[in-house]
Amino acid sequence: MVQVNSLDVSPPLVNASCAWASDLGQLQALFDSPYTGAVVTRTSTLAGFEEDDSHTVAFASSSTTSLNSYGYSPHKLSQYLSWIESILGAAPAAKRKPFIISITASYPDVLKSTIGAIQELRNKGPAFADIGIEFNASCPNIRGAVPWGYAFANLVPLLTVLVDAWRADNSLTLGLKLPPYVYAAQFAEVLATLRQFSAKDDLNGQTLNPIAYIACTNTLGNALLFPEQIVGASGTEERAFAVPTALGGIAGDSLHPLALGNVYSFARLLEAEDLESGLKNLVIFGIGGVTSAEAAARMRKAGASIVGSATLFGKEGVQAFKILSGE
Ligand SMILES: Cc1cc2nc3c(=O)[nH]c(=O)nc-3n(C[C@H](O)[C@H](O)[C@H](O)COP(=O)(O)O)c2cc1C
Repeated sequence: MVQVNSLDVSPPLVNASCAWASDLGQLQALFDSPYTGAVVTRTSTLAGFEEDDSHTVAFASSSTTSLNSYGYSPHKLSQYLSWIESILGAAPAAKRKPFIISITASYPDVLKSTIGAIQELRNKGPAFADIGIEFNASCPNIRGAVPWGYAFANLVPLLTVLVDAWRADNSLTLGLKLPPYVYAAQFAEVLATLRQFSAKDDLNGQTLNPIAYIACTNTLGNALLFPEQIVGASGTEERAFAVPTALGGIAGDSLHPLALGNVYSFARLLEAEDLESGLKNLVIFGIGGVTSAEAAARMRKAGASIVGSATLFGKEGVQAFKILSGE
């Protein structure tokens, strides 16, 4: 069991936000699996995302690797809230597990409304209290947009909205989904930005940070596979690339060493934080190339308390979590 602010994640294994956590059936299957400690939704927005044929995923033939060109979910946040309400509302108390709703927004007022809608559901009663929020700051596939995680200082106005929501209700569990970083100063900048939001708790004098966890990592953008490198390639198709956009986010085995390095880098820096910084207890969700029980063990060895997977889940269905748990 790993405690992430108010959420109890047991076992400490989750799906990572992805296209296979997109509809009611998929969310219910994740919720019913005894091998997941929480369910993380696909990233949704207040207005929904316009999906078309250019948004898709391909699996590599040589390893458990995926390349995807998806943006966010076409389903609106309101749809996720009603699905989650029906799943949690129907589950006996002993069978409940946390939901983490992945969201994103580009403007503070929109983010405020997004959080407000989630809080409305959380306030409907104890069955809905264990709902957290993961702010996706790292999708590499949005045309014309810089993933916030690569311009971390620019994230401050949005972080401020998240922090205000936590100050109003500190049972709200907040996580940040980060992109893969490639040099040391990037990790330090993320933590320096988060540290600004740490404050002493009036009741016990402990320094706390509103962000309970970081999820490392999202896919690595601008990757390319040719059709002959993917599963299901017939050789007769006329497409030029594995995904119609040519470029997409790479994940699975190909991402694993970089994801391990990201988790390790944050874990080392967090170890060195002092209690006054408020970041000492920041939980790391290790995501990226967790495609076997051995890979899950490596993620934990690198410093993750909770492990997440998307590509293996996409390939195997919910059975992936049994595989990852080593049974
Ligand atoms: C098809 C697909 C869709 C994804 N959609 C999202 C998403 O909506 N939000 C998000 O934060 N990450 C998304 N991701 C990234 C995953 O959460 C994860 O960070 C990444 O795939 C690395 O994990 P993996 O190696 O286990 O796939 C997606 C990944 C895939 C493969």
